[in-house]
Amino acid sequence: MELAYPIEISPSYLEVLNSIEAFVRGQVTSLLKPVVESWQPSDFLPDMASENWADSISKFRERAKALPDDLLVVLVGDMITEEALPSYQSWLNRLKGVIDYSGADESGWALWSRGWTAEENRHGDLLNKYLYLTGRVNMRSVETTIHHLITNGFNPQTENNPYLGFIYTSFQERATKISHRNVATLAAKAGEDHLQKICGMIAGDEARHEKAYKLFMTKIFEVDPVNALQAFAKMLKTKIVMPASLMHDGNDEHLFAKFSNVAQRIGVYTAYDYAEIIEDLVSHWNISGMTSLSGVASKAQDYICSLSDRYKKLADRIKFPPKEKFSWIYDREA
Ligand SMILES: [Fe+2]
Ligand SMILES: [Fe+2]
Repeated sequence: MELAYPIEISPSYLEVLNSIEAFVRGQVTSLLKPVVESWQPSDFLPDMASENWADSISKFRERAKALPDDLLVVLVGDMITEEALPSYQSWLNRLKGVIDYSGADESGWALWSRGWTAEENRHGDLLNKYLYLTGRVNMRSVETTIHHLITNGFNPQTENNPYLGFIYTSFQERATKISHRNVATLAAKAGEDHLQKICGMIAGDEARHEKAYKLFMTKIFEVDPVNALQAFAKMLKTKIVMPASLMHDGNDEHLFAKFSNVAQRIGVYTAYDYAEIIEDLVSHWNISGMTSLSGVASKAQDYICSLSDRYKKLADRIKFPPKEKFSWIYDREA
C-alpha cells in the first residue's frame, strides 16, 4: 500500500519541544535510575580482584557451555548493536530541539540524552565482557564487526526531526526489550540462569526507556496532534530500520541479514514482533481515537491503523534459509 500524499512536518516542532522541555526536566529523575541505585556490569561478572578469581571463572565458563550456537550468535549480534552506542548518542544529539549545545547543558532534553546514554553504556559493556569470558566467541571478529559498524554509521532516516526520532526510539526500545527478554528466556531454557539474569536486567532498562520515549511522544501528540500523526505515518512508511543494519565483519556481505534470520528462527525478534510493536504504539497513542482530522491526516490515520494486521499476515508467510556459518563463532553454523 502506497501512502499517496507528501508529508511535510512543520518546523514548529522546535516550539513544541521547547514547550515540553520543563515537563521532561521534571520527569528525568523518575525515568532514569539514580546512579547509586543502578546495577553495574561488574555486579554480574567474576571478581578478578578476589582470591578465588580462577575458580569463579571456571564456574562462569562451565555455565556458559550450555548455550547453543544459535543463541550465542543472536547474543553477539545484540551485543554489537549495543556497542554502537556512540552512533546513537550522536544521532540523538542531532535531533532539532534536543541538542546538548555545551555537552553539559541543564535542559531537560540534554539531561535525558546524557542520562539515557550512560544507562545504555552498561549494556554493551556487560554483554561484551560476558561473551569474552565464555571463551566461545571469536572476539577479534566480533570487535572487527563493532569497528566496522561504528565506522559505517547509523541512518534511521529520521532527518534530525525530533518527532520522527522519538517515534523511532519508542519503537526501538520496545524492540530491544523484547529481544533481550527472549534471550533471557532461551538462556534459562538452556540452563544458563546467569545470562537470564543479565538479559533480564538489560530488558528492564529498555522497558524504562521505552516508557520514557512513548511519554515524550504522548506529550507531542497532545500539543501537536496532526504533525505527530503525519510523522508516525512517515516513519512507518520509511520502515523502522534496525540500528545495527550496517554491521560487517570484513568478509561476510550478508552478515546482518543472517543474524536477523537466526533471531527470527529462534524467536528472539521476529516479523511478528515488528507488527506487535506497531499495534502497541497505535493503541498507546490512541491513534484510532483521533477525531476532527483533515482528509490528509485521516488518510495517515487509516494507513497507520491498518499496518499491524498487514505485517502479521506477511509474518505468517516468512520462510527461513538453512543454517549458515558465522565468523563470530569460528565459522560454525547457526
Ligand atoms: Fe540497550
Ligand atoms: Fe535501549
